[in-house]
This record gives sequence, C-alpha cells and structure tokens, in this order.
Amino acid sequence: MQIKIVAHEKAAVSVGDCPVDGLAEFAFIGRSNVGKSSLINKLTGLKNLCRVSKTPGRTQLIHFMLVDGRWRLVDLPGYGFVKSGKKHREKLEDLIASYFVERNHLSCCFLLIDSRHGPQDTDLDFAAWLVANAVPFALVFTKCDKPKAAILQRNVDAFIEAMQGFATGSPRVILTSSQTGEGRRELLGFINSCLSCEETE
Ligand code: GTP
Ligand code: MG
Repeated sequence: MQIKIVAHEKAAVSVGDCPVDGLAEFAFIGRSNVGKSSLINKLTGLKNLCRVSKTPGRTQLIHFMLVDGRWRLVDLPGYGFVKSGKKHREKLEDLIASYFVERNHLSCCFLLIDSRHGPQDTDLDFAAWLVANAVPFALVFTKCDKPKAAILQRNVDAFIEAMQGFATGSPRVILTSSQTGEGRRELLGFINSCLSCEETE
C-alpha cells in the first residue's frame, strides 16, 4: 500500500475532542519511549510528523494523522512512565482507557513492545486489559535492530507464552525497526487488509 498524503490533523485533549466522522483508525499504544511516534513517522515517511524524543513521556495528547483523506493513524501517550508523577500518570492512563472504550471505529490497536526486553508486567497487564475490553490488537515489537536474533526470538516467544494466561489463540505479531524500516511493508499490508475488509462489510 502506498501512502500519498498525510497530515497531522488534530491533537485531542479528551475523547470528546476527537474527530467524529467515523473514518477507520489505527492506534499506537505502548510504554513510554517504546517507539510509537518513531514508527508512525517511519510508516508515513515523514520524519517530523510526530514528536520523537529520548525523554520518556513526550506524547501527552491524542494525535490524529489523516492519511489520504480515508483513514487515520493515532499516536497515543505512553503508559507506565513513573517519573511523571502519580496524578499526571493517572490522568494519561484515564485518557488512554477512555479512548479505547469510547472510540467505536478503531480498526486495530498496535500494542508496541520493546524487543530488547523479556515480558514486562506493565505490557502484559495492558494486553490483558485489551483482551478483557475486546479491543482488537496486534503485537508490534519495536527496536528490532538492537537485540541479537536469538534474544529477539526468545523475547517474542516469552511474551506470547505469557499471554496464554489470559488470551485464547495467538496474536498477530509484527517485528519492526524505525531505524532500518524492518516491518514497514508488513504493517502497511496489514492495515490495507483491515481497510479492505471494512470496505466489503
Ligand atoms: P512517548 O511519546 O514518550 O511515549 O515515546 P514514544 O513511544 O513515542 O517513543 P519515541 O518514538 O519518541 O522514541 C523514543 C526513543 O527511542 C527515541 O530516542 C527514538 O529515536 C528511539 N527509537 C524509536 N524507535 C527505534 C528503533 O526502531 N530503533 C532504535 N534503535 N531506536 C528507536
Ligand atoms: Mg510519542
């Protein structure tokens, strides 16, 4: 799939502030600093579309990117950033939860997991929450340019195995790197297949 025109359309402060036209959307969620904004930039080929930073907690609002006037990419704040302070963290987590519960034209959520580490409780808890709330999602491992192949495979397998405690079946898994572009075509192909399914419904 080719992306032709992308625009940063809106930074929403609440779910009530989000676009209401019902276009299909794909949301990127994961721990703070996992690489959500970088991956959206890589997918669209626009380096400065979303704000990327070494400092965790950079994305604070719900950012909507309109793609070819037809569908949207959504850059969400990260969860689990302890240093931001309890009140602020809870506010962001409420914003994230209400986004997933209230947006009813979400085609798929991409749950981003840092491929350099074994399963983390915060990520497993979030995956369990998505399952409990019937939010459709795929696992997207990030920073796959960093670990050695064997470690990468071990971390992916361990995460999928840990998910068996609360999920039935195997999730769709996509390995990515915003540095090398690994997984870009697969992710775009997956988005395209979701869009095609919705158009024929
Ligand atoms: P928040 O908005 O704070 O939640 O972070 P985020 O998940 O949007 O992460 P962001 O895209 O801002 O990236 C965080 C850091 O990870 C930046 O320093 C990026 O350059 C780096 N990074 C992101 N993706 C990759 C990747 O695929 N490989 C490598 N090596 N570094 C990456
Ligand atoms: Mg971000």
